[in-house]
Amino acid sequence: MSDLVLLSKLANVGVITINNPPVNALSPGVPEGIVEGVATFNADPEVTAIVIIGGGRTFISGADIKEFGKITSGQKSDIGLADKIDLIEQSAKPVVMAIHGQALGGGLEVAMGGHYRVMDPAAKVGQPEVKLGIIPGAAGTQRLPRLAGVAKAMEMCWQGDPISAAEALQHGIVDAVSNGDLLTFAVEFAQGKPVRRVSDLPVAAADPAVSSAARAAAAKRARGLMAAQKAIDAVEAATRMTFAEGVAYERQLFEECLFDEQSKSMIHIFFGEREVAKIPFLAKDTPVLPIKSAAVIGAGTMGGGIAMNYLNAGIPVRLRETSQASLDRGVATITKNYAASVAKGRFTQAWMDSRLALLTPQLTWEGFDTADIIVEAVFENMALKKTIFAELDGIAKADCILATNTSTLDIDEIASATKRPHMVVGHHFFSPANVMRLLEIVRGKDTAPEVLATSMALAKTLRKVGVLVGNCFGFVGNRMFGPYRRVAEQLVIEGADPMAVDKALYDWGMAMGPLAVGDLAGLDVGWRIRQERGEVGSAPIEDALCEMGRYGQKTGAGWYKYDEKRNPAIDPVVTALIEQHRTGHREISAQEIIDRCVGALIDEGKKILEEGIALRPVDIDIIYVNGYGFPAHRGGPMWYGQVGR
Ligand code: 3HC
Ligand code: NAI
Repeated sequence: MSDLVLLSKLANVGVITINNPPVNALSPGVPEGIVEGVATFNADPEVTAIVIIGGGRTFISGADIKEFGKITSGQKSDIGLADKIDLIEQSAKPVVMAIHGQALGGGLEVAMGGHYRVMDPAAKVGQPEVKLGIIPGAAGTQRLPRLAGVAKAMEMCWQGDPISAAEALQHGIVDAVSNGDLLTFAVEFAQGKPVRRVSDLPVAAADPAVSSAARAAAAKRARGLMAAQKAIDAVEAATRMTFAEGVAYERQLFEECLFDEQSKSMIHIFFGEREVAKIPFLAKDTPVLPIKSAAVIGAGTMGGGIAMNYLNAGIPVRLRETSQASLDRGVATITKNYAASVAKGRFTQAWMDSRLALLTPQLTWEGFDTADIIVEAVFENMALKKTIFAELDGIAKADCILATNTSTLDIDEIASATKRPHMVVGHHFFSPANVMRLLEIVRGKDTAPEVLATSMALAKTLRKVGVLVGNCFGFVGNRMFGPYRRVAEQLVIEGADPMAVDKALYDWGMAMGPLAVGDLAGLDVGWRIRQERGEVGSAPIEDALCEMGRYGQKTGAGWYKYDEKRNPAIDPVVTALIEQHRTGHREISAQEIIDRCVGALIDEGKKILEEGIALRPVDIDIIYVNGYGFPAHRGGPMWYGQVGR
């Protein structure tokens, strides 16, 4: 037997420990090793029960995702897991799965092949395959409804979010939650238990209302994602097929997903999110500075959200404003955001209180001299930012990171206001900063390696996806967004309806259409930038809208007019304005809209790569999927445009 699976005995119990660090993926040899272990213990007269447990930090994180490419390229016919799980389930001696860390995807499927499951209270279980554009492929869609019921199984398979031990217990997915050492608990639990095979359990009769509600919810939340609908189909099949038929049907759907472009794109995003954390020019031993306290300047839209990220990570924050009124407004917004999460059951009141206790709102520089990081989030104005950085230079301790949240300004010029440009870096969060996962980490010409390494590590602590970018106007994301939105306007000038432009890109998978995004973010932002950069005229309709005071949703009107519920409607005033700028009235197809808008992203992305502003094509893809609502199932602009392949 290989080292991937280790066998030992504790009294009368045979213990199989999975040993495939870092996350015990089911790489070749692991499922085989488990099956061999089960057979060995079945043949051992001293053994009356078997416990399967993960070594290291987790139970099993799932099938080895790297193996999928071998199947789609024809090197391998299938992942070969379902039959191994059947063999585990066939054990004549009771098998108890002891879950800590995570049992995800194939990991939960293996766990359900056991006769019982016990779980560490902090562990999670889930079927996250849909996030890779596939469905469970080792009988998860057939065993889960037998344990948790059809509705819960459907939800877990199409949404893909892991659930806690308490929830898993409540839904019958596990049989007990341990109250001490997991292995000891599992060994005791295993004593005297009869064999109970999940595949023998009945499934409740089909309830068409449950399936149609799930389909409707998936069509909305997982728009365009084939795997979400197929996951529902597969679970539903368990209500009308035998176990064996259901497994065969699941396999057919699994393969349809696996061979589709959607899963290839989403797997690219999965590995991409991990790849962007690796900075080739940073030595592995680059020191990472400890960040135990933070200070934020400006409690507006961004400052408040940024502060919440630190609070959520348990890092105390001092939040500075210029007036009591602005400070009160900022703190009220933070409190309101937390309260909304409590109301939705996402946090407890006690958790919210503990976060707010870490916040010190203030009008002074008190405590800024001991902060490990200071994040500036004041108005987008170079003179103001330079004044603030010059002041910080006299206050902050020598090893304090000085970060700016500027969305467009030159980091080097901001850094030049200090005598320590090596400590200055851009931390470009996205609105709403407490929700959006992207953090562009902008490298100035003097930014020190340890400041970059710390920023990358900090992104992870703050549960963000940190992507390192170079210093140029708009960095990566906003720089690409400019041409994308300009082309959208150009299409209107050539004859397309604004709603047709937005609809084409929305239907294609973007979270919002490009013109509607302008209305949401504020058309005045780009207008001011065009004026400052002498680019007036490059977006003539948007300039005219701004001159009319139509800044978008915040003024109730922009490209569209909005009711109190922010529903957009066509405004005849805008139709007349467009008419004045029209150069043509030709029919423009949805495909042309998509090709030209996404094409503009790709073209600017190529320039960004040539200039070295982004390290790799995948960095651009991760920025677009996490910060700009680009559909993950299309893999990001560079992947879609084939540049990264
Ligand atoms: N297969 C291959 N590699 C995997 C993997 C998997 N299932 N899960 C994680 N890894 C790799 C990562 O790529 C990373 O590699 P790197 O160090 O070279 O970059 C390393 O393991 C550590 O992973 P993370 O950095 O993500 O570690 P975290 O501790 O932050 O997170 C985790 C751990 C929550 C398990 C996270 O890795 C994760 O979500 N993994 C994927 C889980 C998943 O989607 N499972 C389903 C797989 S599909 C399946 O099972 C199909 C089945 O139905 C047949
Ligand atoms: P905002 O106008 O909502 O907030 C700015 C806040 O800074 C105000 O509350 C103001 O009172 C405060 N302020 C001004 N001078 C100050 C000083 N000297 N000391 C302390 N506080 C001061 O602006 P917003 O949108 O939060 O933008 C802040 C920064 O974040 C800008 O640089 C902007 O470009 C950038 N940004 C904005 C995004 C957005 O979507 N709003 C997205 C990403 C970055």
